Formats: sequence, structure tokens, C-alpha cells
Amino acid sequence: MARETWKSMVGFTFAALGSAVGLANICIFPFLVGMNGGAAFVFVYLICLVIVGFPVFISEILLGRTTRSSPAGAFRKVGGKRFWPFAGKMTVLTGFIVTSFYSVLAGWVLGYFVEALKGTVTSFGSIEEASQVFDSLVGTASWGLMFHGMFMLICLVIVFGGVRRGIERCSKIMMPVLIFLLLSMVVRGITLPNAWKGISYLFYPDLSEITGTMVLLALGQAFFTLSLGQGTMITYGSYLTEEDNIPKACIQIAIGDTLISLCAAIAVFTTLFSAGLEPAQGVGLIFKTLPIVFTKLPFSWALVTLFFLFVTLAAVTSEISAMEPVIAYLVDEKKWKRHSAVLACGIGGFALGIPCALSFSILKDWYLFGYGFMDFVQVLVQAILLPFGAFCAVFVVGWVWKWRNAERSLTVGSEFFFRSYPWFSLYLRWCIKYSAPILIILVFINKLFRA
Ligand code: PHE
Repeated sequence: MARETWKSMVGFTFAALGSAVGLANICIFPFLVGMNGGAAFVFVYLICLVIVGFPVFISEILLGRTTRSSPAGAFRKVGGKRFWPFAGKMTVLTGFIVTSFYSVLAGWVLGYFVEALKGTVTSFGSIEEASQVFDSLVGTASWGLMFHGMFMLICLVIVFGGVRRGIERCSKIMMPVLIFLLLSMVVRGITLPNAWKGISYLFYPDLSEITGTMVLLALGQAFFTLSLGQGTMITYGSYLTEEDNIPKACIQIAIGDTLISLCAAIAVFTTLFSAGLEPAQGVGLIFKTLPIVFTKLPFSWALVTLFFLFVTLAAVTSEISAMEPVIAYLVDEKKWKRHSAVLACGIGGFALGIPCALSFSILKDWYLFGYGFMDFVQVLVQAILLPFGAFCAVFVVGWVWKWRNAERSLTVGSEFFFRSYPWFSLYLRWCIKYSAPILIILVFINKLFRA
């Protein structure tokens, strides 16, 4: 059977943007900004994105399109049979782990959407009250499990439709809705009293605040937000054709993803500062603070509900992309039927997510290397598995396949682009061969010793 391809370049762009935009943009980015002094973090993050995140992104899409294989096959075809098939399989395994814990986190967001509909999280008097509700909801085993299961089920139904009918169609509808909702929140935020304080917090950096840890956090964020290091972009690239212009699509996607993170941060911080709240609120930031902030506004019920709906939609398009490498692996390498592969990935991901979902309730006292189970899985993924996958992608493209050959393949479909911007090729060569692998090794080592 011929390999499925994206129906159009716009379909691919929306699907990849849907993968990139998710909890990392809306929950984690504002949280990291708030914990790391605002604009200085934003500044460092943007630099990491340009010299590491984007080159890894291009490498992964190129690996996929050239080999037209799942990550395991892609690494084997380009790197040979020694170490690289192992690297490919590791990225698939990482995808599977991301699938499971991401669904638990997204389940909370879905749960908050349902609570908002019921009116239980739409009118808080204080931050303590909101925190108590958050703790008691995530501390209820059945609540966490139920929404983890529901979220996974929604994703399964969508992925069942296949690449084009499922992911492409769904992302094409969801992304514009998301962008519309987000822009309305930004407008709402910047028209609040004292909104300028939030804006200056985000955009006037004090460069003396930059620290080593901040750089490492920013780098990890660049991978997670662009869905790198776990085979997703290799798999999405494998559904592209020779006519497609990779650099142009990647630039649009990276800019879109970054603008969405910035918009989310603007919406969060203008609202926070206007309500006189502190920015460093921890990982529960959006759950604990935004409902309170909205409480003080007119139409708070609708605002809170829309907000959690918006975040759930963003998480759905990311989760289905996290599942895709596992499914593509089972179909391409193990010759499974697509529907069986989807079912196995969904049921397996749900099962693996159960200990995460219970790690705030029944398994609260379970510790692995000093971490609660959910935190352990998150650290394992963001600090070890994703940097490993990202490193393998740039290294195999820059050094094993050799940049000369990779560039020839990248130019197919984008001859005009490279002729118009000759510096782009120099920039990519430098980053893929040097800056990206070196910086990733630094992150890797640092996280390993800090963990
Ligand atoms: N990029 C997604 C987000 O921003 C997370 C993700 C990571 C999705 C890896 C798929 C693969 O939330």
C-alpha cells in the first residue's frame, strides 16, 4: 500500500503546529517565565530556539522526508546498522512515555474544563481557596484516572481516522479556533488596568539575571515545545513529498509556536499583574491563579470555561502527534494494521499513565530517586530522553549522513528558497554541526548531575 501523505502543505503546517502548540506553550512556558524573572528568560529562550531548537527541527523533518520511514527506520537508513537502530527505537519508546504522562496532565486540563462547566472552579475568593480545590481534585484518584482515560479516548478516536482524515482535518479546524480564542484573551488582558506592568515584565529584560540553570531550562523548553527528540517530527516529515518546501514550513511553524507561547504569557501576566498577584506561582500557575483572576471579571464563567477548553484542544493535537511515532513504528516495522497499532498505543499509554495519575493520591508516598512518580517520569523525559533524541537527530544529519548530502536532500523542493537566502544554508550548517550538538551535551550533563 502506498504510504499516506499530507493532502496539502497547509495540512502539514497546521498538523505540525498543532503538535508543537500544547501544554508546553500554555502551562509550562508562563510557569518557567514566572519562576525565572520574566523577560531575561524570554530572551534566553528565543536564542536557544534559534541556535538549537530550530536546527534540530529541520534535521528531524528532513530525516523523515528523505527516508519516508518511522523514526526507527529513518535512523537505520541514514546511520547504518550499528548504533542507530537503537537510537531510533529509543525515540519511539520516548514517544510512548510522553503519550502516557502527557495524557495525565492534559486530563487535569480536561477535568478543569468540565469543572468549569459545572461552575466549581469559576468563583474563588483567594489563592488559598483555589489551591485547595486544585490539590483536592488532583488528590482524588478517581478524578485523575477518569479524565486521563477520557482524554486518551478522545485522542484515540481522532487518530483512528488516519493521517489525512484524522489528524490533518482535526488540526485544520482546531488551530484557527485556538488562535482566535488566544487572541481574544490577549486583547482582554491588555485592556485590563495595569496591564503594562505585565508587558514590561515580559519584554524588558535585565540581562544580569541570566544564569546557567536558566539557559538549560530554556533549552529543554525549546525541545519540548517543538515536539523534538521523540520521533514526532520525523514521523510527520515522513508523510511529506519531494515537492514540499521544508525550510519555509519549518520557519512558519517555529514562528507560530513562539508567537503562541508569547501570547499565552501575555494573557497570563497582564491578568496576573492587573490583579496584583505574584508571577512566581509554581507549576499549578494556570490552575491556581487564572480562575481567581477571571472571578473578578465580568463573564467569569464563560472566560474560565473557554480558557480550559482552549488548553484541552491544544493538548489533543499535541497528544495525537506524540502517539504517531509509536503507531508508525508498529505499522512500518512490525507490519501491524494501523487500527491495531492505534489501539495498542492508546491502551498501552493509558496503562503506563496509571501510576502517574495516581502519584498524587494512592501512590503519593512512592518515590523513585527522590521524585514522586509523575515528577520522575517528567524529569526522565525532559532531562534525558528528549535531549538524547534531539542530539541523535542533529548528529546523524550533520556528521554521519554528512551535511553535504543532507543539504542536497533538503534543497529538493526548496531550490528557490535557498537561492533567495544563501546565508540560510551557512546558518544551518553551523548550527547542525556545532552549536546544537555541543549545547545539547551541556544540557544533558548538567541535568544528569543535578537530577
Ligand atoms: N509540543 C507539545 C507541547 O507543547 C508537547 C509534545 C512533546 C508533543 C513531544 C509531542 C511530542 O505541549
